[in-house]
Amino acid sequence: MVKIAPSILSADFSRLREQVAAVEEAGVEYLHIDVMDGHFVPNITIGPPVVASLRPHSRLVFDVHLMIEKPDYYIEEFIAAGADLVTVHVEACTHLHRTVTRIKEKGALAGIALNPATPLALVEPILPTVDLVLLMTVNPGFGGQRFIGEIVSKLEALCDLRAKYALKFEIEVDGGINVNTAPAVVRAGAGVLVTGSAIFTAPDIATAIHDLRAAAHS
Ligand code: DX5
Ligand code: ZN
Repeated sequence: MVKIAPSILSADFSRLREQVAAVEEAGVEYLHIDVMDGHFVPNITIGPPVVASLRPHSRLVFDVHLMIEKPDYYIEEFIAAGADLVTVHVEACTHLHRTVTRIKEKGALAGIALNPATPLALVEPILPTVDLVLLMTVNPGFGGQRFIGEIVSKLEALCDLRAKYALKFEIEVDGGINVNTAPAVVRAGAGVLVTGSAIFTAPDIATAIHDLRAAAHS
């Protein structure tokens, strides 16, 4: 079954706890937390204190997506704040294997994210070390952008690599996922769908999640 990871980037920050409770009640699996530093991406969002504030109020898997330069400096802090899964960008890590190893040593699951233009060849050697691969289906930085359809073939290629090496990492997609784009990415092998605006700007959060799940399995 496909997992749904609502991105709180599109939530109403003045009612964050309530909105997290709403997605949790609707039965999602992960909570996707987008961390941006204004350098790796042209936007600034949230830091460890927000993760720590939400942690006592949710049992969801906290899926922390670090869109920041030098993520090594912040890994421990995010894990201490309550991150279960920490995903770093391949483009931001000079020593990716070292960073991934550090995340795991500190007790979290480790994910690696690739921008749309970044080839899979860059991560193939370390696929056996990771718990999740996140393929960006938009250029990171903002919610509400249009899905880049060309990534579907990259997704299929990643799925083939996973099968070829008999690995078990999860495949997550992020950006422009909604009822129209979900069927294609699920068919191509995505197992975790990050969805921000399609959930939090919908008139009813539970209905939006229900519809997304139905589309994913259609
Ligand atoms: C984009 C973020 C996404 C974003 C997705 O840089 O990584 O997680 O919140 O938002 P939507 O679903 O609106 O494209
Ligand atoms: Zn994200």
